[in-house]
Amino acid sequence: MAWSPVWRFNARINWVGQPGDYANLIPTTPATAPMTLTAPIQVKDYLSNSPVLKAVPSSRPEAALADVSIIGLGYVGLPLAAILANKTMTVAGVDIREDVINNVNTGRAPAFEPQLEQMVKDASEAGTLSASLQPRPAHVFIIAVPTPIDSEKKADVSYVFSAIRSIAPVLQAGNLIVIESTSPVGTTDKAAEILSELRPDLSFPNKIPGRSDVMMAYCPERVLPGAAIQELIENSRTLGGLDRRSGEAARAFYSRFVTGTLRVTDARAAELSKLAENSFRDVNIAFANELSMLCERIGVDVWEVIDIANLHPRVNILAPGAGVGGHCIPVDPWFIHEMAPEIKPLIRTAREVNDRKPLRVAEQIEEAAGNNKSAKIALLGLSYKPNVDDLRESPAVEIVRELAHAGYSNLHVVEPHVEQLPRELHQLDHVHLADLDTAIRQADVVAILVPHDAFSQLRRIRLSSGTLIDPVGYTRDKRG
Ligand SMILES: NC(=O)c1ccc[n+]([C@@H]2O[C@H](COP(=O)([O-])OP(=O)(O)OC[C@H]3O[C@@H](n4cnc5c(N)ncnc54)[C@H](O)[C@@H]3O)[C@@H](O)[C@H]2O)c1
Repeated sequence: MAWSPVWRFNARINWVGQPGDYANLIPTTPATAPMTLTAPIQVKDYLSNSPVLKAVPSSRPEAALADVSIIGLGYVGLPLAAILANKTMTVAGVDIREDVINNVNTGRAPAFEPQLEQMVKDASEAGTLSASLQPRPAHVFIIAVPTPIDSEKKADVSYVFSAIRSIAPVLQAGNLIVIESTSPVGTTDKAAEILSELRPDLSFPNKIPGRSDVMMAYCPERVLPGAAIQELIENSRTLGGLDRRSGEAARAFYSRFVTGTLRVTDARAAELSKLAENSFRDVNIAFANELSMLCERIGVDVWEVIDIANLHPRVNILAPGAGVGGHCIPVDPWFIHEMAPEIKPLIRTAREVNDRKPLRVAEQIEEAAGNNKSAKIALLGLSYKPNVDDLRESPAVEIVRELAHAGYSNLHVVEPHVEQLPRELHQLDHVHLADLDTAIRQADVVAILVPHDAFSQLRRIRLSSGTLIDPVGYTRDKRG
């Protein structure tokens, strides 16, 4: 049944409202007795068409308190909302996108995580998960909105502060606000400043540590896309309170569903720890990518070198690839860089090495094509990592774009996880989405840009013609 903000309900339940009254209807489990509503009531927050409902009368429609409100229902926020709602918490999701809201309220979810669709459906039917464009009162608010970099590689925290402003009108004493978005150091403190100005009637922990009306913490997310449901529960969590009391409140909240270690710290340490984690990954991948470019130059097999080096008990060189993608690792190191550019050449250089790698792969493809612009080139994989449909900051997309801009006119892209090319490639002439067989048939160059499982037949077949470019080492087991 479609959700509507005001809905006339003519079933029987154990509380009788007057026409015009507002109520929150919550499923009761197990059912005690059939309940019938004997008069029509206006239902502001209809959550389920289950016949078994508990009615909680309220004087104002917005007075009904959700357990948790999650602001931003994307890759992080929606799986988190689904987990909490399936743990019988009432979850009020908020997003600025109407399609996201409509999906959640009709029990649908994008298929970017296994189990997510079913969990959203179950929670929506049980009435524990709903979504709207505007926040409503809740005990706990979790901010999970994007934090990209702008064209000058500076952190754009405008989404976080806009989300913070949006919850200001519905905040109440006793609330806990958690920022999960990856953020520059000091963001949680600034968020508290903003709220102090917007709600002078409430106190915040930056001003009155230990006894503020509202508690605030920064708790970064570490989930691996594709395994988010499991990792949201099992990963260890950093709980950075603006004061100790906020950190402990965050610990109490996360202990309701997290099985991993919970570590309480201060907000700034938590903010920097998240950036440090992703910068560490970026620097180490840059080492592998730099090594791969060196090996290519001097004609040594990089995979053989890494296999041998990793036999050393204290060495663990990561795998090189076509570059570094996703919206975390290529982005977050810039947040650190911005803080004090002069003392972090390593982090910046790693970014530059990793940004250089897709360009080098594009050059390799051009060299293999003999700079023949009409050569048939098969480009396998577009996403930023294997077996997902996420194209954000993908080096593979950049490689295809480079070749198209260089004038290559016969580019066949294979990406089994998407149904159409992203707009930036779709609008380019001569770039076609193809199936694997069509793309590799009589190709002059086949480049494996993402090691998707769906390309496994490439491990068995030998190309009838053409040159294979394999920066991700997908076929390396066949060598020799
Ligand atoms: N995706 C991951 O695997 C991952 C892992 C770790 C950390 N993070 C961090 O988590 C944060 C969220 O990432 P994501 O991948 O879920 O982003 P996303 O783009 O998938 O989702 C963000 C959602 O927030 C919504 N939104 C934007 N502004 C809003 C506002 N003012 N009010 C309400 N909704 C708003 C957007 O419409 C979108 O649906 C980012 O800071 C990201 O760096 C993500």
